[in-house]
Amino acid sequence: MAEVTVGLLAQAEMMPHLCSRAELRHLWTCAMRAPALPMVECGVYLGSSAVVLADVAYRKQVPLVLIDNFSYVNEEYGPTSAELLRANLIRAGVPQLPRIVEGDSRVAPADLEEVGFLHIDTDHRAVHLHAELDAWLPHMAAGSVIALHDYCENSPEMIPAIDQRLGADPAWECLGRVRWTICFQRVPSPMATGFARKG
Ligand SMILES: C[S@@+](CC[C@H](N)C(=O)[O-])C[C@H]1O[C@@H](n2cnc3c(N)ncnc32)[C@H](O)[C@@H]1O
Repeated sequence: MAEVTVGLLAQAEMMPHLCSRAELRHLWTCAMRAPALPMVECGVYLGSSAVVLADVAYRKQVPLVLIDNFSYVNEEYGPTSAELLRANLIRAGVPQLPRIVEGDSRVAPADLEEVGFLHIDTDHRAVHLHAELDAWLPHMAAGSVIALHDYCENSPEMIPAIDQRLGADPAWECLGRVRWTICFQRVPSPMATGFARKG
């Protein structure tokens, strides 16, 4: 099984980063388990986690779409913009420049149909997460993976909201939590196997 390289993690950490190294590794490993379909990140900021996802997208030769409304101003690192993000990705040497969408993560771009991997790292309110999942779940393919950041006590609405929408849904299997990042994989529907089931 392939493993994320220390060099890639170091590249992601060159820019202000809000995910720990262990979380970036978990993100990469879970993204690698997803089917070879377009990947999406909602909440990109200056691009640290996007650098890790860009590596997976390149290996799978699938598009990576980065969505941010660039509203966030970090107390320590300041604001961001599509221009700063693009410059950071180029500086980090991503092998294929992802598509940057300046927009709302609660709206899936009209031309995106099936999605293989989704990372949500935006707002910490349950109402916002529910709206994002309403928009994105219909696009998630069988075997697709969703990673969510802020599954932590510091964001008290996130744990119950994620538990309710994905943790309690038998259609989603938890792939594990590392610090604040939790990942789920969509279990293929039993109907898709072609086997009849009792009950
Ligand atoms: C914590 S930062 C993302 C950090 C990034 N994933 C990383 O690891 O470096 C959250 C981002 O979500 C964006 N955001 C918040 N609400 C959003 C919304 N409704 N639509 C799009 N982006 C949003 C903010 O602008 C901010 O850049």
